[in-house]
Amino acid sequence: MQAVILVGGEGTRLRPLTYALPKPMAPLLGRPFIGWIIERLRTAGVEDVILSCCYLPEAIEAHFGDGRSHGVRLRYVHEEEPLGTAGAIRNALAHIEGSIFACNGDILGAVDLRALLATHRAKDAVATIHTRPVDDPSQFGVVETETDGRVRRFVEKPKPGQTSARDINAGTYILEAEAVEAIPEGRPVSIERETFPLLIETTHRVFAVSTQDYWIDVGRPNTYRQAHHDILDGTFAHPLGVELAPGVWSADGAPLPRDVSVHPPMYIGAGARVSSGATLEPYAVLYDGCSVGADATVGDAILWPGCDVGAGGEVRGAILGLDVAVEANAAVPAGAVLGRGERVTAAR
Ligand code: GTP
Repeated sequence: MQAVILVGGEGTRLRPLTYALPKPMAPLLGRPFIGWIIERLRTAGVEDVILSCCYLPEAIEAHFGDGRSHGVRLRYVHEEEPLGTAGAIRNALAHIEGSIFACNGDILGAVDLRALLATHRAKDAVATIHTRPVDDPSQFGVVETETDGRVRRFVEKPKPGQTSARDINAGTYILEAEAVEAIPEGRPVSIERETFPLLIETTHRVFAVSTQDYWIDVGRPNTYRQAHHDILDGTFAHPLGVELAPGVWSADGAPLPRDVSVHPPMYIGAGARVSSGATLEPYAVLYDGCSVGADATVGDAILWPGCDVGAGGEVRGAILGLDVAVEANAAVPAGAVLGRGERVTAAR
């Protein structure tokens, strides 16, 4: 079985973080975000993965290479201009041999992919869409189905009264090659707005499978933070690395100095340094090479590689991009999302 993962979006909602790294490469507790998707596909029996790239592809290729060290064969297809969520799959057609999983590159989910495939085959579907119910679907693409799961129509961001359906498109599909061939070549095409409506009309063989298992779209700062919470809490999976003490995860197993005040859960990247008297509050995440000075405090915050918090500095409820510096005694405002190399100064 093959899979195509869409990794070409600009990730505008995660700016300024995504000016430096594309969203699929955002670190998430031991691997880049799409590493979690690739691992789930691999354990479901997928051996051949095509990454459909557009924005900042070099960072992705440099990390994953030919995929061998991640247990899959990886290939890359590139677009000069963004081709949209269906056009990007069509662009991989030359590599596609039969049924494929197609995945948005920003969804972390526990859906049983083998069960999804079994339903797809049992229904003789041309396309199967994973869906999930939400209380308020007004910001999503809603999928209306018949009682047998056959998709009747898509309603994008429905207004009150427009539909009573609550199942939203969860961003993982199974597509037959004929569905991919139906996507027009060489121009932007949206799978939700154009391809699924066309397939519904012409084949009547588009099905949805609704599940209530773990699911999150990590494409916004608060959901990216939530994904960290969920993994640190063990709700979805556990961080990679060594658990030094209950809930204290370390990438390289290096012990923390004795006089650091430690309040799990937390994650410490490889080569991160925490000085005496510092406090690490719950959900502190320090990626590789970060340093936290004496008497500084980090809590419920994500520090991308190379950040430096000076002595007495405070970082709570924020996301710091690559190489951000927090001066001694400076406090990062809660909710801040800082881009590469920014500097936070102390109030004078
Ligand atoms: P925002 O700009 O914050 O909306 O994020 P995004 O650019 O990732 O867009 P969105 O969340 O709608 O994209 C869903 C998935 O499709 C993500 O995994 C994107 O990387 C991917 N994607 C979106 N548009 C394209 C495209 O034109 N080409 C490719 N290859 N992937 C795309």
